[in-house]
Amino acid sequence: MPGTKTPESALRAEGITPSMSGPSQPTSHETGVDPPRPDTDGELDPILLRASSYDRAEKLRRADLYPFCACIEAVDAREAIVRGRRCLNLGSNDYLGLSHDPRVVEAGARAAERYGAGSTGSRLLNGTGPLHLELERSLARFMGKPAGLVFPTGYQTNLGVVAGLVAHGDVAFVGRHDHASILDAGRLSMGRMVRFDSSDPARLESVIDTRGEGGRLVIVDGVHSMDGSIVDLPALVALRNRHHFVLAVDDAHAIGVLGASGAGTTEHFGLIDEVDLVIGTFSKAFGSNGGFVVGAPDVIDYLRHACRSFMFSAALSPFHAGATSMSLSILQSEPWRIARLRSSTELLRDRLGAAGFDTGRSQSPILPVLIGDEHRTLLFWKSLIETGIYGNPVIAPAVPDGECRIRLSLNAAFTDEDIERVVRAFDSIRDAIR
Ligand SMILES: Cc1ncc(COP(=O)(O)O)c(C=O)c1O
Repeated sequence: MPGTKTPESALRAEGITPSMSGPSQPTSHETGVDPPRPDTDGELDPILLRASSYDRAEKLRRADLYPFCACIEAVDAREAIVRGRRCLNLGSNDYLGLSHDPRVVEAGARAAERYGAGSTGSRLLNGTGPLHLELERSLARFMGKPAGLVFPTGYQTNLGVVAGLVAHGDVAFVGRHDHASILDAGRLSMGRMVRFDSSDPARLESVIDTRGEGGRLVIVDGVHSMDGSIVDLPALVALRNRHHFVLAVDDAHAIGVLGASGAGTTEHFGLIDEVDLVIGTFSKAFGSNGGFVVGAPDVIDYLRHACRSFMFSAALSPFHAGATSMSLSILQSEPWRIARLRSSTELLRDRLGAAGFDTGRSQSPILPVLIGDEHRTLLFWKSLIETGIYGNPVIAPAVPDGECRIRLSLNAAFTDEDIERVVRAFDSIRDAIR
Protein backbone atom coordinates (compact mmCIF):
# COMPACT_ATOMS: atom_id res chain seq x y z
CA MET A 1 0.00 0.00 0.00
CA PRO A 2 1.71 3.15 -1.11
CA GLY A 3 2.69 5.35 1.78
CA THR A 4 0.28 3.99 4.38
CA LYS A 5 3.12 3.09 6.70
CA THR A 6 4.70 6.55 6.67
CA PRO A 7 4.23 8.56 9.84
CA GLU A 8 4.66 11.98 8.22
CA SER A 9 1.26 13.51 8.57
CA ALA A 10 0.63 12.10 12.00
CA LEU A 11 3.87 13.75 12.95
CA ARG A 12 2.71 16.99 11.42
CA ALA A 13 -0.23 16.80 13.81
CA GLU A 14 2.38 16.84 16.55
CA GLY A 15 3.94 19.94 15.06
CA ILE A 16 6.88 18.06 13.61
CA THR A 17 8.09 18.75 10.07
CA PRO A 18 8.43 15.60 8.02
CA SER A 19 11.63 15.09 6.11
CA MET A 20 11.04 11.68 4.57
CA SER A 21 9.98 12.00 0.94
CA GLY A 22 6.63 10.41 0.08
CA PRO A 23 6.05 8.32 -3.00
CA SER A 24 4.99 11.29 -5.13
CA GLN A 25 8.00 13.49 -4.41
CA PRO A 26 10.92 13.42 -6.82
CA THR A 27 14.19 12.18 -5.40
CA SER A 28 17.41 14.19 -5.59
CA HIS A 29 18.51 11.47 -8.01
CA GLU A 30 15.67 12.56 -10.34
CA THR A 31 16.04 16.31 -9.87
CA GLY A 32 19.83 16.25 -9.92
CA VAL A 33 19.77 18.67 -6.97
CA ASP A 34 21.39 17.57 -3.75
CA PRO A 35 19.33 18.10 -0.59
CA PRO A 36 20.79 20.72 1.75
CA ARG A 37 23.43 19.30 4.05
CA PRO A 38 22.37 19.38 7.68
CA ASP A 39 24.49 21.54 9.88
CA THR A 40 26.87 19.06 11.46
CA ASP A 41 29.33 20.05 14.10
CA GLY A 42 31.91 18.23 12.05
CA GLU A 43 31.68 15.05 14.07
CA LEU A 44 28.77 13.05 12.73
CA ASP A 45 28.31 12.06 9.12
CA PRO A 46 25.05 13.64 7.82
CA ILE A 47 23.58 10.19 7.28
CA LEU A 48 24.09 9.21 10.90
CA LEU A 49 23.04 12.68 12.04
CA ARG A 50 19.74 12.29 10.19
CA ALA A 51 19.17 8.91 11.79
CA SER A 52 20.17 9.96 15.29
CA SER A 53 17.99 13.09 15.21
CA TYR A 54 14.92 11.18 14.02
CA ASP A 55 12.46 11.49 16.90
CA ARG A 56 9.15 11.90 15.10
CA ALA A 57 7.95 8.32 15.58
CA GLU A 58 8.92 8.49 19.23
CA LYS A 59 6.82 11.64 19.74
CA LEU A 60 3.78 9.92 18.26
CA ARG A 61 4.41 6.88 20.45
CA ARG A 62 4.46 9.17 23.48
CA ALA A 63 1.05 10.55 22.42
CA ASP A 64 -0.08 6.90 22.09
CA LEU A 65 -1.06 7.66 18.49
CA TYR A 66 1.67 5.82 16.63
CA PRO A 67 -0.22 3.67 14.13
CA PHE A 68 2.55 1.88 12.26
CA CYS A 69 4.04 -1.59 12.60
CA ALA A 70 1.47 -2.48 15.26
CA CYS A 71 1.83 -6.09 16.35
CA ILE A 72 -1.13 -7.87 14.76
CA GLU A 73 -1.43 -11.36 16.15
CA ALA A 74 -3.67 -13.22 13.70
CA VAL A 75 -6.23 -15.55 15.25
CA ASP A 76 -7.66 -16.65 11.90
CA ALA A 77 -8.71 -14.96 8.65
CA ARG A 78 -11.43 -13.04 10.52
CA GLU A 79 -9.88 -11.92 13.79
CA ALA A 80 -6.58 -10.69 15.23
CA ILE A 81 -5.29 -9.51 18.61
CA VAL A 82 -4.23 -5.85 18.38
CA ARG A 83 -3.07 -3.76 21.36
CA GLY A 84 -4.37 -6.53 23.63
CA ARG A 85 -7.87 -6.53 22.04
CA ARG A 86 -9.49 -9.26 20.00
CA CYS A 87 -10.53 -7.42 16.83
CA LEU A 88 -12.37 -8.14 13.61
CA ASN A 89 -9.52 -7.75 11.18
CA LEU A 90 -10.51 -5.35 8.40
CA GLY A 91 -6.88 -4.42 7.86
CA SER A 92 -5.72 -7.52 6.02
CA ASN A 93 -5.84 -8.13 2.27
CA ASP A 94 -6.86 -11.75 2.77
CA TYR A 95 -9.92 -11.20 0.54
CA LEU A 96 -10.99 -14.83 0.27
CA GLY A 97 -10.10 -15.80 3.83
CA LEU A 98 -7.50 -18.32 2.65
CA SER A 99 -4.52 -17.36 4.83
CA HIS A 100 -5.62 -19.75 7.59
CA ASP A 101 -7.37 -22.37 5.50
CA PRO A 102 -5.97 -25.70 6.81
CA ARG A 103 -5.64 -27.05 3.25
CA VAL A 104 -3.47 -24.07 2.25
CA VAL A 105 -1.32 -24.19 5.38
CA GLU A 106 -0.88 -27.97 5.06
CA ALA A 107 0.03 -27.74 1.36
CA GLY A 108 2.70 -25.17 2.27
CA ALA A 109 4.00 -27.36 5.11
CA ARG A 110 4.09 -30.44 2.85
CA ALA A 111 6.06 -28.47 0.25
CA ALA A 112 8.55 -27.32 2.91
CA GLU A 113 8.95 -30.88 4.20
CA ARG A 114 9.56 -32.21 0.70
CA TYR A 115 11.71 -29.40 -0.76
CA GLY A 116 13.15 -27.61 2.29
CA ALA A 117 12.57 -24.42 4.28
CA GLY A 118 14.13 -22.16 1.65
CA SER A 119 14.65 -22.10 -2.10
CA THR A 120 18.44 -21.75 -1.59
CA GLY A 121 19.12 -19.76 -4.73
CA SER A 122 18.08 -17.82 -7.80
CA ARG A 123 15.50 -19.21 -10.21
CA LEU A 124 18.09 -18.79 -12.94
CA LEU A 125 20.58 -21.17 -11.32
CA ASN A 126 19.63 -23.70 -8.64
CA GLY A 127 16.33 -22.21 -7.38
CA THR A 128 13.73 -23.50 -9.88
CA GLY A 129 11.76 -26.49 -8.59
CA PRO A 130 8.75 -28.47 -9.86
CA LEU A 131 6.36 -26.41 -7.71
CA HIS A 132 7.39 -23.17 -9.45
CA LEU A 133 6.83 -24.65 -12.89
CA GLU A 134 3.51 -26.19 -11.95
CA LEU A 135 2.32 -22.92 -10.38
CA GLU A 136 3.36 -20.92 -13.46
CA ARG A 137 1.39 -23.25 -15.73
CA SER A 138 -1.75 -23.23 -13.59
CA LEU A 139 -1.66 -19.45 -13.05
CA ALA A 140 -1.30 -18.78 -16.77
CA ARG A 141 -4.25 -21.09 -17.49
CA PHE A 142 -6.37 -19.40 -14.82
CA MET A 143 -5.52 -15.91 -16.07
CA GLY A 144 -6.20 -16.80 -19.72
CA LYS A 145 -2.63 -16.15 -20.90
CA PRO A 146 -0.17 -18.62 -22.43
CA ALA A 147 2.78 -18.19 -20.03
CA GLY A 148 3.67 -17.02 -16.54
CA LEU A 149 6.60 -16.32 -14.26
CA VAL A 150 6.53 -16.31 -10.45
CA PHE A 151 8.60 -14.03 -8.21
CA PRO A 152 9.31 -13.94 -4.45
CA THR A 153 7.03 -10.87 -3.98
CA GLY A 154 4.64 -8.66 -5.93
CA TYR A 155 6.97 -5.72 -5.30
CA GLN A 156 9.80 -7.56 -7.02
CA THR A 157 7.50 -8.50 -9.89
CA ASN A 158 6.72 -4.87 -10.70
CA LEU A 159 10.33 -3.86 -10.21
CA GLY A 160 11.55 -6.64 -12.50
CA VAL A 161 8.93 -6.30 -15.23
CA VAL A 162 9.07 -2.52 -15.66
CA ALA A 163 12.81 -2.13 -15.22
CA GLY A 164 13.42 -5.26 -17.30
CA LEU A 165 11.30 -4.10 -20.24
CA VAL A 166 11.88 -0.35 -20.36
CA ALA A 167 15.32 0.25 -21.88
CA HIS A 168 17.28 3.36 -22.73
CA GLY A 169 15.17 5.53 -25.09
CA ASP A 170 11.87 3.93 -24.00
CA VAL A 171 9.18 5.56 -21.86
CA ALA A 172 7.22 4.05 -18.96
CA PHE A 173 3.83 5.75 -18.53
CA VAL A 174 2.89 5.12 -14.94
CA GLY A 175 -0.38 5.91 -13.19
CA ARG A 176 0.26 8.87 -10.87
CA HIS A 177 -1.22 7.08 -7.88
CA ASP A 178 -0.02 3.59 -8.76
CA HIS A 179 1.56 1.39 -6.15
CA ALA A 180 5.01 2.45 -4.89
CA SER A 181 6.61 -0.61 -6.50
CA ILE A 182 5.58 0.65 -9.96
CA LEU A 183 6.93 4.12 -9.29
CA ASP A 184 10.15 2.63 -7.92
CA ALA A 185 10.35 0.40 -10.99
CA GLY A 186 9.99 3.43 -13.28
CA ARG A 187 12.84 5.12 -11.42
CA LEU A 188 14.98 2.02 -11.70
CA SER A 189 14.45 1.52 -15.43
CA MET A 190 16.96 2.90 -17.92
CA GLY A 191 14.16 4.71 -19.77
CA ARG A 192 12.15 7.79 -18.91
CA MET A 193 9.14 7.73 -16.60
CA VAL A 194 6.05 9.85 -17.34
CA ARG A 195 3.31 9.89 -14.73
CA PHE A 196 -0.32 10.46 -15.66
CA ASP A 197 -3.68 10.49 -13.93
CA SER A 198 -4.96 6.97 -14.60
CA SER A 199 -8.45 7.94 -13.40
CA ASP A 200 -8.61 10.10 -16.56
CA PRO A 201 -7.22 8.08 -19.52
CA ALA A 202 -7.78 11.07 -21.85
CA ARG A 203 -4.78 12.67 -20.11
CA LEU A 204 -2.67 9.76 -21.28
CA GLU A 205 -3.59 10.47 -24.88
CA SER A 206 -2.31 14.02 -24.51
CA VAL A 207 1.17 12.79 -23.48
CA ILE A 208 1.49 9.41 -25.16
CA ASP A 209 3.30 10.69 -28.21
CA THR A 210 5.93 12.67 -26.30
CA ARG A 211 8.76 10.30 -27.21
CA GLY A 212 11.45 9.57 -29.71
CA GLU A 213 11.81 6.29 -31.50
CA GLY A 214 11.74 4.13 -28.39
CA GLY A 215 9.06 1.82 -27.05
CA ARG A 216 6.22 2.71 -24.70
CA LEU A 217 4.88 0.76 -21.74
CA VAL A 218 1.71 1.90 -19.97
CA ILE A 219 1.20 0.34 -16.55
CA VAL A 220 -1.67 0.96 -14.13
CA ASP A 221 -3.23 -0.54 -11.01
CA GLY A 222 -6.39 -2.53 -11.92
CA VAL A 223 -7.96 -1.68 -8.56
CA HIS A 224 -6.52 1.30 -6.78
CA SER A 225 -5.08 0.17 -3.46
CA MET A 226 -6.08 3.27 -1.50
CA ASP A 227 -9.53 4.23 -2.84
CA GLY A 228 -10.77 0.88 -4.17
CA SER A 229 -11.75 2.28 -7.58
CA ILE A 230 -11.48 0.18 -10.77
CA VAL A 231 -9.38 1.53 -13.63
CA ASP A 232 -11.20 2.45 -16.85
CA LEU A 233 -9.62 -0.41 -18.76
CA PRO A 234 -11.87 -0.11 -21.86
CA ALA A 235 -10.64 3.49 -22.34
CA LEU A 236 -7.00 2.42 -21.97
CA VAL A 237 -7.50 -0.46 -24.41
CA ALA A 238 -9.07 1.94 -26.94
CA LEU A 239 -5.93 4.11 -26.62
CA ARG A 240 -3.69 1.06 -26.97
CA ASN A 241 -5.49 0.11 -30.17
CA ARG A 242 -4.88 3.60 -31.58
CA HIS A 243 -1.32 4.17 -30.31
CA HIS A 244 0.08 0.61 -30.16
CA PHE A 245 1.86 0.74 -26.81
CA VAL A 246 2.43 -2.19 -24.44
CA LEU A 247 -0.30 -2.30 -21.78
CA ALA A 248 0.32 -3.87 -18.37
CA VAL A 249 -2.11 -4.05 -15.44
CA ASP A 250 -1.08 -4.61 -11.83
CA ASP A 251 -4.10 -6.56 -10.61
CA ALA A 252 -2.90 -7.12 -7.04
CA HIS A 253 -6.29 -6.12 -5.58
CA ALA A 254 -8.46 -7.53 -8.37
CA ILE A 255 -7.36 -11.15 -8.77
CA GLY A 256 -9.67 -13.38 -6.71
CA VAL A 257 -12.00 -10.40 -6.43
CA LEU A 258 -13.21 -9.20 -9.86
CA GLY A 259 -14.40 -11.17 -12.90
CA ALA A 260 -16.74 -14.14 -13.22
CA SER A 261 -14.03 -16.61 -12.15
CA GLY A 262 -11.90 -14.15 -10.16
CA ALA A 263 -9.29 -13.57 -12.87
CA GLY A 264 -9.39 -9.81 -12.21
CA THR A 265 -9.89 -6.59 -14.12
CA THR A 266 -9.26 -8.04 -17.58
CA GLU A 267 -11.94 -10.68 -17.03
CA HIS A 268 -14.29 -8.14 -15.43
CA PHE A 269 -14.21 -6.06 -18.63
CA GLY A 270 -13.85 -9.01 -21.07
CA LEU A 271 -10.49 -7.63 -22.25
CA ILE A 272 -8.07 -10.46 -21.49
CA ASP A 273 -6.59 -10.52 -25.00
CA GLU A 274 -6.22 -6.74 -25.21
CA VAL A 275 -3.89 -6.44 -22.20
CA ASP A 276 -0.31 -7.55 -22.84
CA LEU A 277 0.81 -8.31 -19.30
CA VAL A 278 -1.05 -8.89 -16.05
CA ILE A 279 0.84 -8.72 -12.78
CA GLY A 280 -0.41 -10.08 -9.48
CA THR A 281 0.57 -10.85 -5.93
CA PHE A 282 -0.04 -13.90 -3.75
CA SER A 283 -0.12 -11.70 -0.63
CA LYS A 284 -3.78 -10.72 -1.02
CA ALA A 285 -6.58 -13.04 -2.26
CA PHE A 286 -4.23 -16.07 -2.24
CA GLY A 287 -3.48 -15.55 1.47
CA SER A 288 0.19 -16.44 0.85
CA ASN A 289 3.28 -14.52 -0.34
CA GLY A 290 4.86 -14.02 -3.75
CA GLY A 291 4.11 -12.40 -7.10
CA PHE A 292 3.67 -13.25 -10.78
CA VAL A 293 3.33 -11.94 -14.30
CA VAL A 294 1.47 -13.58 -17.19
CA GLY A 295 1.65 -12.79 -20.91
CA ALA A 296 2.91 -14.00 -24.28
CA PRO A 297 5.53 -16.79 -24.13
CA ASP A 298 8.25 -14.77 -25.90
CA VAL A 299 7.80 -11.79 -23.54
CA ILE A 300 7.78 -14.04 -20.48
CA ASP A 301 10.92 -15.81 -21.69
CA TYR A 302 12.59 -12.43 -22.25
CA LEU A 303 11.58 -11.34 -18.73
CA ARG A 304 13.08 -14.55 -17.31
CA HIS A 305 16.45 -13.28 -18.58
CA ALA A 306 15.95 -9.53 -18.09
CA CYS A 307 14.37 -9.05 -14.63
CA ARG A 308 17.14 -8.36 -12.15
CA SER A 309 14.75 -8.79 -9.21
CA PHE A 310 14.06 -12.31 -10.53
CA MET A 311 17.65 -13.22 -11.37
CA PHE A 312 19.43 -11.77 -8.36
CA SER A 313 17.15 -12.87 -5.55
CA ALA A 314 16.37 -16.31 -4.14
CA ALA A 315 13.31 -17.96 -5.68
CA LEU A 316 9.82 -18.05 -4.15
CA SER A 317 10.03 -20.39 -1.14
CA PRO A 318 8.72 -23.96 -1.45
CA PHE A 319 6.20 -23.20 1.32
CA HIS A 320 4.70 -20.28 -0.61
CA ALA A 321 4.75 -22.10 -3.96
CA GLY A 322 2.88 -25.07 -2.45
CA ALA A 323 0.45 -22.94 -0.42
CA THR A 324 -0.33 -20.67 -3.39
CA SER A 325 -1.06 -23.63 -5.70
CA MET A 326 -3.58 -24.88 -3.17
CA SER A 327 -5.13 -21.38 -2.80
CA LEU A 328 -5.51 -21.19 -6.56
CA SER A 329 -7.34 -24.49 -6.73
CA ILE A 330 -9.64 -23.50 -3.81
CA LEU A 331 -10.29 -20.12 -5.44
CA GLN A 332 -11.46 -21.96 -8.56
CA SER A 333 -13.43 -24.76 -6.88
CA GLU A 334 -15.22 -22.64 -4.23
CA PRO A 335 -16.81 -19.72 -6.08
CA TRP A 336 -18.96 -19.02 -3.02
CA ARG A 337 -15.95 -17.18 -1.56
CA ILE A 338 -15.98 -14.52 -4.27
CA ALA A 339 -19.78 -14.29 -4.07
CA ARG A 340 -19.62 -13.90 -0.28
CA LEU A 341 -16.91 -11.23 -0.56
CA ARG A 342 -19.09 -9.28 -2.98
CA SER A 343 -22.23 -9.48 -0.86
CA SER A 344 -20.32 -8.41 2.30
CA THR A 345 -18.77 -5.54 0.37
CA GLU A 346 -22.15 -4.31 -0.85
CA LEU A 347 -23.68 -4.65 2.60
CA LEU A 348 -20.90 -2.70 4.32
CA ARG A 349 -20.80 0.00 1.63
CA ASP A 350 -24.60 0.44 1.81
CA ARG A 351 -24.77 0.41 5.61
CA LEU A 352 -21.89 2.88 6.02
CA GLY A 353 -23.45 5.12 3.35
CA ALA A 354 -26.83 4.97 5.08
CA ALA A 355 -25.09 5.96 8.35
CA GLY A 356 -23.67 9.04 6.61
CA PHE A 357 -20.08 7.89 6.00
CA ASP A 358 -18.28 8.68 2.77
CA THR A 359 -16.58 5.69 1.11
CA GLY A 360 -15.48 7.70 -1.92
CA ARG A 361 -15.07 6.08 -5.33
CA SER A 362 -14.75 2.52 -4.09
CA GLN A 363 -16.09 -0.25 -6.36
CA SER A 364 -14.27 -3.10 -4.64
CA PRO A 365 -13.72 -4.70 -1.20
CA ILE A 366 -11.36 -1.81 -0.33
CA LEU A 367 -13.62 0.65 1.48
CA PRO A 368 -11.91 3.88 2.54
CA VAL A 369 -13.99 5.69 5.15
CA LEU A 370 -13.20 9.39 4.99
CA ILE A 371 -12.58 10.85 8.45
CA GLY A 372 -10.85 14.19 7.73
CA ASP A 373 -7.79 15.50 9.54
CA GLU A 374 -4.95 13.35 10.71
CA HIS A 375 -5.37 13.73 14.42
CA ARG A 376 -9.04 12.80 14.28
CA THR A 377 -8.24 9.85 12.01
CA LEU A 378 -5.66 8.49 14.44
CA LEU A 379 -8.04 8.95 17.36
CA PHE A 380 -10.74 7.19 15.35
CA TRP A 381 -8.36 4.33 14.53
CA LYS A 382 -7.42 3.90 18.19
CA SER A 383 -11.04 4.00 19.36
CA LEU A 384 -12.00 1.41 16.74
CA ILE A 385 -9.44 -0.99 18.17
CA GLU A 386 -10.84 -0.39 21.64
CA THR A 387 -14.27 -1.46 20.35
CA GLY A 388 -12.79 -4.56 18.69
CA ILE A 389 -12.43 -3.41 15.06
CA TYR A 390 -9.11 -3.11 13.25
CA GLY A 391 -8.82 -0.95 10.09
CA ASN A 392 -5.74 0.70 8.59
CA PRO A 393 -5.29 4.47 9.03
CA VAL A 394 -4.30 6.24 5.80
CA ILE A 395 -2.75 9.66 6.20
CA ALA A 396 -0.61 12.06 4.13
CA PRO A 397 1.40 11.72 1.99
CA ALA A 398 -0.56 8.63 0.90
CA VAL A 399 -3.62 10.89 0.66
CA PRO A 400 -3.95 14.72 0.65
CA ASP A 401 -4.10 16.51 4.00
CA GLY A 402 -7.70 16.71 5.19
CA GLU A 403 -8.67 13.53 3.32
CA CYS A 404 -7.35 11.05 5.88
CA ARG A 405 -9.31 7.87 6.15
CA ILE A 406 -9.67 4.47 7.72
CA ARG A 407 -9.13 1.87 5.01
CA LEU A 408 -11.28 -1.21 5.52
CA SER A 409 -10.91 -4.33 3.43
CA LEU A 410 -13.52 -7.04 3.33
CA ASN A 411 -12.98 -10.72 3.68
CA ALA A 412 -15.11 -13.72 2.65
CA ALA A 413 -14.94 -14.94 6.26
CA PHE A 414 -17.07 -12.06 7.64
CA THR A 415 -20.70 -12.65 8.57
CA ASP A 416 -23.54 -10.15 8.19
CA GLU A 417 -23.45 -9.71 11.98
CA ASP A 418 -19.74 -8.78 11.72
CA ILE A 419 -20.65 -6.09 9.20
CA GLU A 420 -23.35 -4.69 11.52
CA ARG A 421 -20.77 -4.62 14.32
CA VAL A 422 -18.44 -2.53 12.17
CA VAL A 423 -21.18 -0.04 11.33
CA ARG A 424 -22.25 0.26 14.99
CA ALA A 425 -18.62 0.90 16.00
CA PHE A 426 -18.18 3.65 13.39
CA ASP A 427 -21.45 5.26 14.46
CA SER A 428 -20.63 5.29 18.16
CA ILE A 429 -17.07 6.55 17.71
CA ARG A 430 -18.18 9.38 15.43
CA ASP A 431 -20.59 10.50 18.15
CA ALA A 432 -17.93 10.15 20.84
CA ILE A 433 -15.19 12.18 19.13
CA ARG A 434 -17.37 14.72 17.34
C1 LIG B 1 -1.17 -2.60 -6.22
C2 LIG B 1 -0.07 -3.38 -5.54
N1 LIG B 1 0.93 -3.87 -6.28
C3 LIG B 1 1.94 -4.56 -5.73
C4 LIG B 1 1.98 -4.79 -4.37
C5 LIG B 1 3.16 -5.53 -3.77
O1 LIG B 1 2.83 -6.84 -3.50
P1 LIG B 1 3.64 -7.71 -2.42
O2 LIG B 1 3.04 -7.45 -1.09
O3 LIG B 1 3.46 -9.11 -2.88
O4 LIG B 1 5.07 -7.28 -2.49
C6 LIG B 1 0.95 -4.32 -3.56
C7 LIG B 1 0.99 -4.56 -2.10
O5 LIG B 1 0.62 -3.77 -1.29
C8 LIG B 1 -0.10 -3.58 -4.16
O6 LIG B 1 -1.08 -3.07 -3.42
